[in-house]
Amino acid sequence: MTLSTFSDPAALDAALARVRGTERIAFVPTMGNLHEGHLALVRRARELANQVVVSIFVNPLQFGQGEDFDGYPRTLEADTRLLAAEGVDSLFTPSVTAMYPKPQAQQTRVEVPGLSDILCGASRPGHFAGVATVVCKLFNLVRPDVALFGQKDYQQLLVIRRMVDDLAMPLEIVGVPTVREADGLAMSSRNGYLTEAERARAPALYRVLLDTAAQLKASGDVFELERAACSAIDAAGLRTDYLAIRRQQDLQPSQPGDRALVILAAAWLGQARLIDNLEVVR
Ligand code: PAJ
Repeated sequence: MTLSTFSDPAALDAALARVRGTERIAFVPTMGNLHEGHLALVRRARELANQVVVSIFVNPLQFGQGEDFDGYPRTLEADTRLLAAEGVDSLFTPSVTAMYPKPQAQQTRVEVPGLSDILCGASRPGHFAGVATVVCKLFNLVRPDVALFGQKDYQQLLVIRRMVDDLAMPLEIVGVPTVREADGLAMSSRNGYLTEAERARAPALYRVLLDTAAQLKASGDVFELERAACSAIDAAGLRTDYLAIRRQQDLQPSQPGDRALVILAAAWLGQARLIDNLEVVR
């Protein structure tokens, strides 16, 4: 099979109409500039379904004012080659006007309260409504049986799961473990913003998560561990946005007795805002 690319939603729909009902459709939404993290989702999609659809859409609704929407890396040719080599069936590349024909202020939005205003959502107001809205619209256009998301964006994965559950969307959500560089840095399109010197410092974020996880398992005090981890990130030459030890199920502060925890962190390094997380069961 060769890769077919569609920018027109109606053309994608016509192509999928031929397989819908008889074949299982897996969907991987992305913003492009693809790396091994994205490709891990594509490979898992291929295992779960016989039709794999990938979207590339840099979604203006999830970028705040002053964020990197304009500078976000757009590498469609290279991305297309990678997806063709993975045996992807359909690539959906809608335009901004196809996705959002009306001015942003008139756009219907999907809000996921509780999960959207904490952690990354506190630093990036409106971000998760932008994510939930575009993913909802993409789901309606593709109508997949299963959609795949990376655990690297842990909060995003929870927001999507909650949206699908609350709105009874008829598909399954699958989370895929974080793919890392050899030195531990979580792969991200934004790593390309790092200078060589910053790139050398970047793995400190994951090392702090590993250290913190080891101490958390040895039942360290949560508040004290958070404080020490922030200092360690700053000492490594990054600027901590947040580091929080939360419950896996709802990202609320952990209570005594909670065992399934996750350490989530975001830190600035030059132009890049890096995020990472690590699950801990104690
Ligand atoms: P993007 O950052 O392009 O990521 C697309 C998908 O790839 C997301 O599910 C993300 O979690 C996953 N991913 C990114 N880096 C990964 C890594 N190192 N290991 C595993 N998975 C990784 O996330 C978005 O785009 C957008 O918010 C989107 C969901 C497409 C909505 O616009």
